[in-house]
Amino acid sequence: MNSVLPKSGTMTTIGTMTTIGIIGAGEVGTQLARAVIALGYEVVIANSRRPETLAGLVSELGPHARAATAADAAAAGDFVVVAVPLKLANDMPTAQLAGKIVLDTNNYMVWRDGHYPEIDSGRKTVYELRQEQLPMSRVVQAFTHIQAPRITTAGQPAGAPRRLALPVSSNFPEAVHLVTGLYEQLGFDAVDNSPLSQAWRSAPGQPAWSALQHQTRSELMANLARAHPVVAA
Ligand SMILES: NC(=O)c1ccc[n+]([C@@H]2O[C@H](COP(=O)([O-])OP(=O)(O)OC[C@H]3O[C@@H](n4cnc5c(N)ncnc54)[C@H](OP(=O)(O)O)[C@@H]3O)[C@@H](O)[C@H]2O)c1
Repeated sequence: MNSVLPKSGTMTTIGTMTTIGIIGAGEVGTQLARAVIALGYEVVIANSRRPETLAGLVSELGPHARAATAADAAAAGDFVVVAVPLKLANDMPTAQLAGKIVLDTNNYMVWRDGHYPEIDSGRKTVYELRQEQLPMSRVVQAFTHIQAPRITTAGQPAGAPRRLALPVSSNFPEAVHLVTGLYEQLGFDAVDNSPLSQAWRSAPGQPAWSALQHQTRSELMANLARAHPVVAA
């Protein structure tokens, strides 16, 4: 039984197993799948190709995982992780994600994604653009500030002196609540950097990004506070 799933804005303990849809089966998606299955969640995971291409991964993950299309993973999830870079042309299953909390692990990387003028100018954060692409979902920035292999290894008990803190940001408090609970289950502290319009404070190039390997809650809060505003070139 898991208790991080909020329904209608409130924290609810549910009697059935929570299923997490994971769209993206690369470094982050696979590590998150391993981590949450170890916590007792069910996982439905997808890549950009046919589910059959994930047979080896699903075999490794065991009976609490299955592969699906992205639309089916979205539909199956009580909440859904999108571990896929943002594209200017939305490639996520918008209809199946409607009404759901969507954890976006994406970081904006110019070398990979090209230039997005709205982000470069400071008008929007990458998570605001994802929220615009998924207007019926509740988008929340999550797991952006930890290297994928460390998701399963870096967690520590609450109160550990150098416990890693991760930012979370959303326009929806229940989504922040869910991610904070999931971080806690995995051994990480959360720092709420909401709403999504504030997420530039943790973007690549900012102090909170440079320190992402090892910042505690107080250090992350200080790094977010001393972020320098984006100025258009
Ligand atoms: N790597 C890290 O340590 C790390 C840490 C934190 C955050 N992030 C961020 O998290 C995001 C994912 O990073 P990653 O390293 O996991 O990337 P990755 O290894 O390149 O994996 C990306 C995955 O997304 C899938 N994908 C792409 N388009 C899709 C679509 N339309 N529908 C379904 N699946 C789709 C790909 O499928 P195919 O295999 O079929 O191509 C692949 O499985 C990035 O934005 C990255 O910046 C990465």
